[in-house]
Amino acid sequence: MGRSSTPRAAGTEGVAVDPAVRVGSVSLSNAVMTASGTSGHGDELGRYLDLGALGAVVVKSMMAEPWPGNPAPRLAPVPAGMLNSVGLQGDGIGHWLDRELPDLRAAGATVVASIWGRHVQDYERAAGALQGADPAVVAVEVNLSCPNLDGGKHLFAHDPRAAAEVVEACGAAGLPRWAKLSANTDRVVEVAASVAEAGAEAVTLVNTLLGMVIDPDRAAPVLGSGPAGGGLSGPAIHPVAVRTVFDVHAALPGLPIVGVGGIVDARGAVEMIMAGADAVQVGTASFAEPRTADMVRTGLEHWCSTHGVRAVAELKGCAHG
Ligand code: SIN
Repeated sequence: MGRSSTPRAAGTEGVAVDPAVRVGSVSLSNAVMTASGTSGHGDELGRYLDLGALGAVVVKSMMAEPWPGNPAPRLAPVPAGMLNSVGLQGDGIGHWLDRELPDLRAAGATVVASIWGRHVQDYERAAGALQGADPAVVAVEVNLSCPNLDGGKHLFAHDPRAAAEVVEACGAAGLPRWAKLSANTDRVVEVAASVAEAGAEAVTLVNTLLGMVIDPDRAAPVLGSGPAGGGLSGPAIHPVAVRTVFDVHAALPGLPIVGVGGIVDARGAVEMIMAGADAVQVGTASFAEPRTADMVRTGLEHWCSTHGVRAVAELKGCAHG
């Protein structure tokens, strides 16, 4: 089967499947990664699954310096997902390089370092701190889209020029750059084109959606961030994420995409890849079942095998006809 051809109906006879994919210049053993913010900064998930078996572990976004994050409570479950207002808590990149990256390396993980900042200079410092990092770090994911800073009002991912400026500054890492974007804007295609022009090898689509939960008994927002609300993730946002991947792939077919948002099983990953993603990330589902990313990895290969798809990469963009 060639790229973008239609898989056959499921059969009992499986075919051998090549699970390897590429995201720009980065080769991954398979298409399934953890999503930033859902598996800690280090090897926290390692007690539940073999981190080395995943395509990559994408660590929680870090700044060069330590950052305290937002007041509790920071999580609120909702039907089909959850809201978070963690606010990017972390101990800083120096701590990570010394104390947490070695554990990931020891676990055999391929690592993507996610970074954030409030200003372009913050990103530049964070990227610079990653220069020369252990070769287990294969890419830097530039988080332009966290809704939990300044109430989500000034997201770099909502402005093509500001997003491009950040991505350019992150060249200081000397690593392939993936720009993590937002579906809270109708300009996502424009932003994707702009960050690609600025040097991003790929875009990660999508971060959480701006949301709020109110406690009717207190007549007040549930999360500690109060009127700033939080970011909605989980199955509730899956169709939004698939649509965003579909639209960006349709407009920019040469731009590699990492799809993320509400994937809970192999079918969700297949959908995302058929929409145009090269690889996927699994996040919120890991809070309920920490082995989900690995289950999606094996399930995706099984799905391909029983549908006559000899390489996961062949599924990319199938749904565009
Ligand atoms: C957070 O720490 O607030 C979540 C990070 C994100 O949504 O990018």
